[in-house]
Amino acid sequence: MNTSVENLRREYMQTRLDTESVAADPFRQFGHWLHQAYDAGIEEPNAMALATATPGGQPSCRVVLLRGISGGGFTFYTNYLSRKGEELQHNPHASLLFFWPQLERQIRIEGRIEQVTEAESDAYFATRPRDSQLGAWASPQSQAIQDRAELDRRLREAAQRFPEEVVRPAHWGGYRLIPHHFEFWQGRESRLHDRVRYNRVAVDEWAIKRLAP
Ligand SMILES: Cc1cc2nc3c(=O)[nH]c(=O)nc-3n(C[C@H](O)[C@H](O)[C@H](O)COP(=O)(O)O)c2cc1C
Repeated sequence: MNTSVENLRREYMQTRLDTESVAADPFRQFGHWLHQAYDAGIEEPNAMALATATPGGQPSCRVVLLRGISGGGFTFYTNYLSRKGEELQHNPHASLLFFWPQLERQIRIEGRIEQVTEAESDAYFATRPRDSQLGAWASPQSQAIQDRAELDRRLREAAQRFPEEVVRPAHWGGYRLIPHHFEFWQGRESRLHDRVRYNRVAVDEWAIKRLAP
């Protein structure tokens, strides 16, 4: 079998997308596609690439899990002192990307990021399994550590410190990306894909355009 990436080729044939048939509100369009992704049995359709950048323009990218769409934005949870947290503190512009190959779909979302309220982070933290709650205390996310044993030791310390309820660490919580730009991409035959872009022109008003593939 030839596994060279230059020979991997696939035609996208499933369906189409156009500016007349999409929802006027990109959040509704997103919800519609997300439901279809769940129905198609895609594993973790809420996994999304999150791109951030330093003020100097060096981008970095990682996968996080979408935990809600509310307050006009997309919410995820993380360590505020992590690399992404550090970058967002100095540069709140960020981008999300969903890729669902089984549906031949990609969604790009761009906007500004803000921290969710402490009450919102507390409420979400309380729903996490105890081990994940302790993990938030144990892991100095994105920092260099000695070895796995250091993590295990930190986890034991956290478990001793919180024998019952685990309090949310102040450095762990949610971010909400408030979009000003969406793009929905549907793969089509011969690489002539359908792309529909939404640009925010007023609080609840979006300009919709087709983009060349
Ligand atoms: C499927 C998947 C889901 C993930 N979900 C999260 C998440 O919700 N929050 C998080 O902080 N890291 C999550 N991660 C780990 C991140 O990709 C990343 O390793 C971590 O956040 C550190 O990133 P940073 O050093 O750029 O801050 C996930 C990774 C994968 C592969």
